[in-house]
Amino acid sequence: MITLSQRMTLNQELNKILIIDFGSQFTQLIARRIRELGVFSEIVSHKKIKKKNINFNIKGIILSGGPLNVYEINKYSFDKKIIEKGIPILGICFGHQILSKLNGGKVKQSKHREFGLANIFKKKDSLLTKKFFNKKRIIKVWMSHADQVSKIPKDFSVIASSINSKFAIIENKKRSFYGVQFHPEVTHTENGKKLISNFIFLICKIKKNWSPKDQKLKLIKEIRDQVGQNKVICALSGGVDSSVVAQLLNKAIGKKLYCIFVNTGMLRKYEEKQVVKTFKKRLKINLIYVNAENEFIKNLKNISDPEKKRKIIGNLFIKIFERYAKKIKNVKFLAQGTLYPDLIESRSVTGSQTSKIKSHHNVGGLPKKMKLKLVEPLKFLFKDEVRKLGLELNLSKEIVLRHPFPGPGLAIRMPGHITKDKIKILKDADFYFIQALKDHKLYHKIWQAYAALLPVKTVGVMGDNRTYEYLCLLRAITSEDGMTADFYEFKKSFIQMISNKIVNSIRGINRVVYDITSKPPSTIELE
Ligand code: XMP
Repeated sequence: MITLSQRMTLNQELNKILIIDFGSQFTQLIARRIRELGVFSEIVSHKKIKKKNINFNIKGIILSGGPLNVYEINKYSFDKKIIEKGIPILGICFGHQILSKLNGGKVKQSKHREFGLANIFKKKDSLLTKKFFNKKRIIKVWMSHADQVSKIPKDFSVIASSINSKFAIIENKKRSFYGVQFHPEVTHTENGKKLISNFIFLICKIKKNWSPKDQKLKLIKEIRDQVGQNKVICALSGGVDSSVVAQLLNKAIGKKLYCIFVNTGMLRKYEEKQVVKTFKKRLKINLIYVNAENEFIKNLKNISDPEKKRKIIGNLFIKIFERYAKKIKNVKFLAQGTLYPDLIESRSVTGSQTSKIKSHHNVGGLPKKMKLKLVEPLKFLFKDEVRKLGLELNLSKEIVLRHPFPGPGLAIRMPGHITKDKIKILKDADFYFIQALKDHKLYHKIWQAYAALLPVKTVGVMGDNRTYEYLCLLRAITSEDGMTADFYEFKKSFIQMISNKIVNSIRGINRVVYDITSKPPSTIELE
């Protein structure tokens, strides 16, 4: 196998699966599944793809889902000649509908819009569904559509149906065209990855050619291509994402990188010391430490609205970066550890009608007239992929396997007004909780855990005295990528021990509660 670096020197393109994006929220998930299967893929918007872009490196094409209707032909573009290139095609949801229409089938608005799980029933064998169905010839899939194929094209046959979708899977075996009405790329579809794997390996016959090392090399090359000889500042928080970005940029551009680590006063206990030790002393990265504690506290005074807090913090971060960028001189870029789920949740990446949940400070909170251009090398990756990349970049397990920590820090774990006293109390509670998780070997079983301080006081009794103090909320969740989450089930002895420890050691807290909501309907953070 020729490696990516060898190909890069030869200027040769890798064999790949081309994903044509019609605006689905799940397009990046398709790419992710293909990466997991060890194959290179590329996403191109339907607006940009032309027949001439389809060269011999493309071993298969996937047409994504999307919010469009196939008959609104002025809203999308798709060169029909692409399907005449003799390359295997898999259409997913909207992609299935467009593939059917282009081949002479019909699509209409279905009587029953289908959102959520549905059973599909096997009608016929196909390479696409080899070892996909269970023994009863049924499988649960995730549907999300209003329109559906009402007549399949000539020379196509039905592989599987659901009660509402007669043409849930169709194929034209001779031309290697496949259409699925559901989303095999989401984890809710049982065995969905098998279907994608069958398409790429059995039908497209592509060979494995992608690894975390290739991912690293590709990202380093893209950073170099984007920033050239310019200086870049990197917003380092000490969390996994920004640490990986910093190390990636360090490898890509070395001394042209200036990492700025802002102490907002709302970091975890001892965090600033650890970050300086790791990045300045161990990794020898250009690090500028800014103590902006007072500036943040002053700007957040009397602010309790969560979105306002996020915007203020986001704006202040950028102001500080711009201030330092001026001092460093000739800085053109700002690097950030934005991940794909951050993008999905805080803005519509595709232009589809996704609703905004929160303004992540590194995305939605950016001032409109920001003078620095963004470098966001992780913006199409998911958390677990970033962790693998971090290990590939020789970051320590301690950094890479650390629980995520949000940019706005403890501010969003303290509903209501923020004060120095509250921050101190919260830092201590969080420290005891996390330390106990580590001592009891629970830390790595949990995706994210933290303590929060609620803006209510309740009555307690300590010794013979009445107390009237804050309520501490503990949250510990399991998750795959932060998009959905469940609470972690502690043993009573552990939760009792940590509750005692917090109440007995910290002045200001006299009650501890454990959050048992999942996401959705809650979110992981409180604000
Ligand atoms: P939510 O609360 O949206 O959190 O369920 C999902 C994940 O994102 C983290 N998070 C953030 N990370 N800037 C970040 O860098 C932010 O503004 C932000 N808000 C939430 C959160 O900690 C969890 O891991």
